[in-house]
Amino acid sequence: MITVLLALAAYLIGSISFAVVVSKVYGLSDPRTYGSGNPGATNVLRSGNKGAAIWTLVGDAFKGWLAVWLTIHFAARLGIGDGTIALVALAVFLGHLWPVFFRFQGGKGVATALGVLLALDVWLGLATLATWLVIAYAFRYSSLAALLAAVFAPFYYGLLFGVEPQLFAVVVMSGLLVWRHASNIGNLMAGKESRIGSKSKAAA
Ligand code: G3P
Repeated sequence: MITVLLALAAYLIGSISFAVVVSKVYGLSDPRTYGSGNPGATNVLRSGNKGAAIWTLVGDAFKGWLAVWLTIHFAARLGIGDGTIALVALAVFLGHLWPVFFRFQGGKGVATALGVLLALDVWLGLATLATWLVIAYAFRYSSLAALLAAVFAPFYYGLLFGVEPQLFAVVVMSGLLVWRHASNIGNLMAGKESRIGSKSKAAA
């Protein structure tokens, strides 16, 4: 029962779309109506408001971190194990992708996945973030950086901790993240993907 309640709470936390909330606070258009249409930090950046993009990134990462960190922190007191932690990690990520508060139209999960990874293990999160930064710096594509970071994250987890339930959650998160980037993959292959900081992007 406690596992179901924690997973449900994590899903609800994940359902808060900071791209939409922060854009409202800043008086910007709904990010689902311009650029790629994705409610995420990269698309909010296309509004030209860097502050809003940064707060979107921080908010979406924080919710992933918070849900998993709290679960790990109180695991012993709640009498829960790795399986529940893995489920909570997945639930907060699923909330971001399919938010109950926003007609199930969520984002691609990059920032939330980062928060989850940082809470599972700070070195895991930092290694994945470093992968994102290196690719983003080299190629200037946010999506390509996210895709490669997602491919590497399960390997980092496996190297650090071996096979355990959380690895399963990381694999599923990475798989879903790649799937949500299908339009970006198409654009990358067609040479049409917009680079970081560029304001234009066809709706995808
Ligand atoms: O954070 C999502 C990013 O990887 C791609 O976003 O708006 O270019 O589809 P976008």
